[in-house]
Amino acid sequence: MERRHLAECGSTNTEALAHLRDGGGPLIVSADRQTAGRGRLGRAWRSDDASLTFSVARPMPAELDLSGLSLAVGCTVADVLDPAGERVRLKWPNDLFLDGAKLGGILIETVPLPSQQRGVVIGIGLNLQPLPPDADRSAFASGHAALRSLDPTATAATVLDCLAPALRALLADFETLGFGPWQLAFSRRDLAAGRRVRVGGQVGVARGVSTQGELLLDTDDGIALVSTGEVSLRLENVSP
Ligand code: BTN
Repeated sequence: MERRHLAECGSTNTEALAHLRDGGGPLIVSADRQTAGRGRLGRAWRSDDASLTFSVARPMPAELDLSGLSLAVGCTVADVLDPAGERVRLKWPNDLFLDGAKLGGILIETVPLPSQQRGVVIGIGLNLQPLPPDADRSAFASGHAALRSLDPTATAATVLDCLAPALRALLADFETLGFGPWQLAFSRRDLAAGRRVRVGGQVGVARGVSTQGELLLDTDDGIALVSTGEVSLRLENVSP
């Protein structure tokens, strides 16, 4: 897979989408800084040299069901960073947590392509260094965790070198197998499992995910399936 590194860009996702739109093949593009980084739900995503910022791009069959892809990506990243499965958790549908605070996030975007193909871009932002002591922590509603607490020697380049082959393999597997094989892996890292959560206006107890990656929400009216669309999940303080 082609690798490209930029000192600065608006967003690595934008670069990757343009690359696929122009007929390009599989690509990993990383950047030291983004000036217009995007998060989910239209939020801005801050990234500078204290973070690892990159996107993986690949044309895929247009009919491929991408639900669950962000969970499979999360499992793959978590397994590379924390093979013992002790410290990195996943908050459905796209957040990585380390020791209870947000380590990073995943933003998947697509672009229509000719010949029944669709360009798929997986953008990943991970905090590399802890916040400086004088940083405004109110901007980090889910807390802030850094890769250096897992591995004090980690650099953006060394972490990306480990993640790139794992993500390349994941995309090939996902194309043929879909999300099913990652359902169990997700459940082992599921931060919300058994906890009371609020998601897309509904409240209930999180009971894992379906074979399509939908959240199983145990509500007063029974089990509701919540798809991995534009919704976010908030952990409620009250225990079930
Ligand atoms: C989220 O938690 O809301 C997802 C954040 C995803 C950020 C990454 S950084 C690399 C890529 N480029 C972007 O503009 N966004 C993603």
